[in-house]
Amino acid sequence: TDSYPEIKRDSRFAQISKEHVDYFKELLGKEAALVDGVTAGATEDDLEPFNSDWMRKYRGHCRLVLKPGSTEEVSKILKYCNENMLAVVPQGGNTGLVGGSVPVFDEIVVSASRMNQIRFFDEVSGVLVADAGVVLEVADQYLAEKGYIFPLDLGAKGSCHIGGNVSTNAGGLRLLRYGSLHGTVLGIEAVLPDGTILDDLSRLRKNNTGYDLKQLFIGGEGTIGMITAVSIHCPQRSKAVNVAFLGLESYEKLQQTFKEAKTQLGEILSAFELMDSQSQDIFHKVKDNKRPLEGEHPFYCLIETSGSNSEHDSEKLEKFLEDVMTKELVTDGVVAENETQLRSLWSQREGITETIGHWGGVYKYDVSIPIKDMYKLVEDTRKRLEDAGLKGESDKYPVVDVVGYGHMGDSNLHLNIAVRRYDKEVEAALEPFVYEWIAERNGSISAEHGLGIAKKKYIGYSRNETTVDLMKQIKNLYDPNGIMNPYKYI
Ligand code: FAD
Ligand code: MLT
Ligand code: ZN
Repeated sequence: TDSYPEIKRDSRFAQISKEHVDYFKELLGKEAALVDGVTAGATEDDLEPFNSDWMRKYRGHCRLVLKPGSTEEVSKILKYCNENMLAVVPQGGNTGLVGGSVPVFDEIVVSASRMNQIRFFDEVSGVLVADAGVVLEVADQYLAEKGYIFPLDLGAKGSCHIGGNVSTNAGGLRLLRYGSLHGTVLGIEAVLPDGTILDDLSRLRKNNTGYDLKQLFIGGEGTIGMITAVSIHCPQRSKAVNVAFLGLESYEKLQQTFKEAKTQLGEILSAFELMDSQSQDIFHKVKDNKRPLEGEHPFYCLIETSGSNSEHDSEKLEKFLEDVMTKELVTDGVVAENETQLRSLWSQREGITETIGHWGGVYKYDVSIPIKDMYKLVEDTRKRLEDAGLKGESDKYPVVDVVGYGHMGDSNLHLNIAVRRYDKEVEAALEPFVYEWIAERNGSISAEHGLGIAKKKYIGYSRNETTVDLMKQIKNLYDPNGIMNPYKYI
């Protein structure tokens, strides 16, 4: 392929043959083994959604997609692949943003989509055990009926899988409140490349019996095994949810407002999200809907509270708003009065990802930097692209705009560069500039999206040699033939 001129197909991996295909068809049935070419069971179009990522930026050339229906089938698939040196890519909802979920060459895609059953739920402890292929929103709706909530929420909830979420260690919109999956995931069931089933579906919150091996799979990005089920601790769903959308003059005032929100809203604060004016301009240009606030503001933030007493929470939020307005930290604000308005305010934030690619492409950086300096990265990058004559209004310029948004409450910024076309000059201006900028401040070059193929070369900006060497040793221990998601970050 010429998609990745710098990467060569590893010749140790076998090409898919008729014999391999026959084995999988026999094992899974015809419907669950989509094949192109070899025995012509499916067309290239059928395979396209598995070969191409959500952003349409990364494309593989896989000719075989397998959809196992059980852990035992995953075990047989991986064992066979390992013995026959067939490379595989585990795939969930294929919403990942670093090109990790699609093949690079002809790796076999093993999709979790048919493994979609809830296995167990305990209404007292809130422990949920479910197959890896359960769609996040489906899991959350199931929990809603029982008065519980999935401790993770993100814009791709309608298609991402909980197994994919765990494999990327997704952060999302409420990490501030419910914490990272490294804390909420209690156990996993996974299949190792040699077919071994690692049954560690613990339902316990506390379990200090040696190394916590499941942590390696959380954020492992499919490089050491395939997760087949997850056990997770789910919190009580709050009865009262309020959302406020605020306009602010400066990043300094935004930081003060965050501090006040923590002090005054304390235990009910469940999200604090940042959006700059550029991100909202793009959203409104593409969606053409009414802005929640009159006039434009350099910064916006979305604050969500989740508590048990509606009256008490509303009073707290109103008092807080009054206070930050009196102190002139916030210029204008609106509070959702009903569910429709609440969803609409959230869409201002969640809809950025989809709208930002409108002009043709986007360079995405998902970074973690000490909060004080966080937005300066956007300003410095914007200036750099302007100075290089790469950003402007007409088609002559590749860059449309430089945008910042993200999970302010977690010091996690999404720096996005909306472009009319992918362009070598823009790339040269961005990299390694952005990574060096982050490394100088001891930040992380990937806060929540992972490394995949997009960031694989840059791990050294956030992890030292000793750490990367240990990661390689772990990879070799779990996957000595290197068949699991090759060419990606490790
Ligand atoms: P995929 O994209 O299919 O896979 C992602 C990676 O995990 C790949 O490396 C794949 O090989 C591996 N993988 C998938 N399933 C398994 C499995 N069962 N076993 C082993 N490996 C597996 N991320 C955030 O952190 N926070 C956000 O707020 C956020 N918002 C998003 C909003 C939108 C609109 C979109 C499109 C994406 C967003 N993301 C966000 C990216 C995020 O990583 C994914 O949405 C999600 O976690 C990936 O789940 P998935 O099932 O789609 O996984
Ligand atoms: C988000 O927070 O919206 C997601 O991480 C996706 C993105 O970075 O665009
Ligand atoms: Zn995010």
